[in-house]
Amino acid sequence: MKRSYYIAGNWKMHKTRAEAAELAKALVDRLKDGKHKYLAAPSFTSLETVAPIVKGTNIRLGAQNCAAEEQGAHTGEVSVLQLKDLGVQTVILGHSERRHLYKEDDELINKKVRLALSRGFEVILCIGELLEEREAGRAEAVCQGQVRGGLDGVSAGDLGRVVIAYEPVWAIGTGKTATPQDADAVHAFVRKVVGGLYSPAAAEQIIIQYGGSVKPENAAELMAQENIDGALVGGAALKADTFVPIAQFG
Ligand code: 13P
Repeated sequence: MKRSYYIAGNWKMHKTRAEAAELAKALVDRLKDGKHKYLAAPSFTSLETVAPIVKGTNIRLGAQNCAAEEQGAHTGEVSVLQLKDLGVQTVILGHSERRHLYKEDDELINKKVRLALSRGFEVILCIGELLEEREAGRAEAVCQGQVRGGLDGVSAGDLGRVVIAYEPVWAIGTGKTATPQDADAVHAFVRKVVGGLYSPAAAEQIIIQYGGSVKPENAAELMAQENIDGALVGGAALKADTFVPIAQFG
């Protein structure tokens, strides 16, 4: 039997509190009979607003990042303790925008992954290659490095709270989606890497989401692939009218 599906919305740096509340309410209402696992990840500034709206529903509350340190003199950073206090359950880490625009490397991402796991969060670890890396035939090597680097020191027990999101950088916000077959091939490879690091059972169980221009029109075909267990959605997560059909694909 295939793993259960997990559809997540990454709202990135969008929405005021009022707009976030409106979207969250619409999602709660329209996904209340949804069959899958769901997540909404608003900006830090909207977490407190969205938290009571999704509490007790089938939509988890996610943050888009966290600091690598628990507390201290880290101007502009947000701590896992503060996220926990807001009711956040999941932290997205290693997003390509964090890696490439804000120069986060595997070592820093790994520190955040381990800290978040140690505080009981679920982690969505994002990986994915740049266009030039794909064109140079290095997509698998890059993803392998990011999986190994991101999961360094993570115990087999904690791995149960890790989700991997494969987001080829060239497909993010560009309207270009990896073909379902190309995406599935990378997912199968990543699963094999997890198997090598942990066990065949861990490889079989780990949820691997696909991200990069997921839309209502392509969701069902992507989700039909053997190794694709869900989606991490950006642009199409900003409206209930586009996120709900993805969340209820097929
Ligand atoms: P888009 O769906 O806008 O391509 O963004 C994907 C993404 O980065 C989700 O984290």
